[in-house]
Amino acid sequence: MKICCIGAGYVGGPTMAMIAKQCPEISVHVVDLNQSRIDAWNSDELPVYEPGLYEVVREARGRNLTFSTNVDQAIAEADMIFIAVNTPTKHFGMGAGRAANLEFIEKCARQIAKVSEGHKIVVEKSTLPVRTAEAVKRILSSSSNGATFDVLSNPEFLAEGTAIEDLLDPDRVLIGGESQAAVKALADVYGQWVAREKILTTNLWSSELSKLTANAFLAQRVSSINAISALCEETEADIDEVSRAIGTDSRIGPKFLKASVGFGGSCFQKDILNLVYLCEHFGLREVADYWEQVVIMNDYQKRRFAERICRTMFNTVSDKKIAIWGFAFKKDTNDTRESAAIYVCRDLLRERARLVIYDPKVSKETIVSELLTALSDLSGTISETDRELVQSNVTVVNDAYDAANNAHAIAVLTEWDEFRELDYERIYDTMQKPAFVYDGRNILDRQKLTKIGFEIFAIGKSN
Ligand SMILES: NC(=O)c1ccc[n+]([C@@H]2O[C@H](COP(=O)([O-])OP(=O)(O)OC[C@H]3O[C@@H](n4cnc5c(N)ncnc54)[C@H](O)[C@@H]3O)[C@@H](O)[C@H]2O)c1
Repeated sequence: MKICCIGAGYVGGPTMAMIAKQCPEISVHVVDLNQSRIDAWNSDELPVYEPGLYEVVREARGRNLTFSTNVDQAIAEADMIFIAVNTPTKHFGMGAGRAANLEFIEKCARQIAKVSEGHKIVVEKSTLPVRTAEAVKRILSSSSNGATFDVLSNPEFLAEGTAIEDLLDPDRVLIGGESQAAVKALADVYGQWVAREKILTTNLWSSELSKLTANAFLAQRVSSINAISALCEETEADIDEVSRAIGTDSRIGPKFLKASVGFGGSCFQKDILNLVYLCEHFGLREVADYWEQVVIMNDYQKRRFAERICRTMFNTVSDKKIAIWGFAFKKDTNDTRESAAIYVCRDLLRERARLVIYDPKVSKETIVSELLTALSDLSGTISETDRELVQSNVTVVNDAYDAANNAHAIAVLTEWDEFRELDYERIYDTMQKPAFVYDGRNILDRQKLTKIGFEIFAIGKSN
């Protein structure tokens, strides 16, 4: 059996590496248009940072796992083709700011139709609006080579930062499709290492909609607890105590109840907005408003954090040095897409703060590019003043101590474990006084830091 995967990103790379590792008899070819990404997959510096990923790739690469830009060849040779390309929020035309941009999906479908012969199974791995498979099927049916196709939906539920664990031992694998033979062929692949009772099969549309719904529910939990964190700060209730108290209720459960500066990542916001757009399309105004509030609350939480920094630093951060610890959207990933750090930094820059940023896995180029994009208008244009602001007020360093040296404040924006174990006496001595700490992830020991002399502000904790 030969598998091809179009799209060598955060989903295509790790999922295919896992299939190749667990199924040595299947040949897996991952293709992408981006040459430098493919070069990185073929090197020791993978383009995706994920604990345990390198070991999985190293085991299978060169044996039954190949990365290349030979899209046509990989499609032509494959029995099963996964589509794992990006489906970002559309930022132009109809549905801008809400709908998913399906341009890349459609291009893949057209390419598959053009190159294929015989019978192939096409698997939607990307997260798609419900009923996209209908469009994919129509495009595939225009194949001029007489090829025939079965289309399956197999959304990916891995979380970045724990992708390898999630792929190795998923809560469930979801396969939606009409053809029982095609569903069985894909279930047999996962069945090599996933228990059969964890492989759920549904119709195509339930599968597509379940992925959007799962992300909407997860993000909703974060926004719900973050909403309560604002109330805690006003009332001396403690958000961690509230989380523990409600999370021990088995009907609620403990996961995703950690208050923070706000959720990020490439998926939650885009998938909820996509759901909102779908509801609007079907005339379900109240349903659209209900889900949109999850995103509105998240924006509020990020804005509120930056405002609290300004307010408590005597209403001005202009020309003050603020150490930013962490820029990735969560720990154990180098992914910065929609990271809360971007928006907090943008708001602080607009107040003319001087930012010294440190993240253990994110490069200076990525940080600068994210900030320039955040300061740009909808058409992607950035003013000369804002460009100069980034140039003059943003420094990226390789060490948390360096970032804090001589700073007026530290803002913890990603929950990297290393931030828990630093020498805070040493840090305090090198900072301006009063030395402020803003813990956007509630990972620091407040008592210890207060005793040293820091003024510490955390999410959902009153001062
Ligand atoms: N990142 C996650 O945690 C996650 C989890 C579950 C599902 N998803 C979904 O999976 C999909 C992919 O997400 P991602 O984070 O891997 O995106 P990504 O941007 O990291 O990767 C997508 C890749 O597809 C490539 N590509 C685009 N069009 C192509 C084409 N026509 N031919 C060949 N390559 C092409 C791009 O160059 C890019 O490298 C999205 O729909 C996303 O919503 C993501």
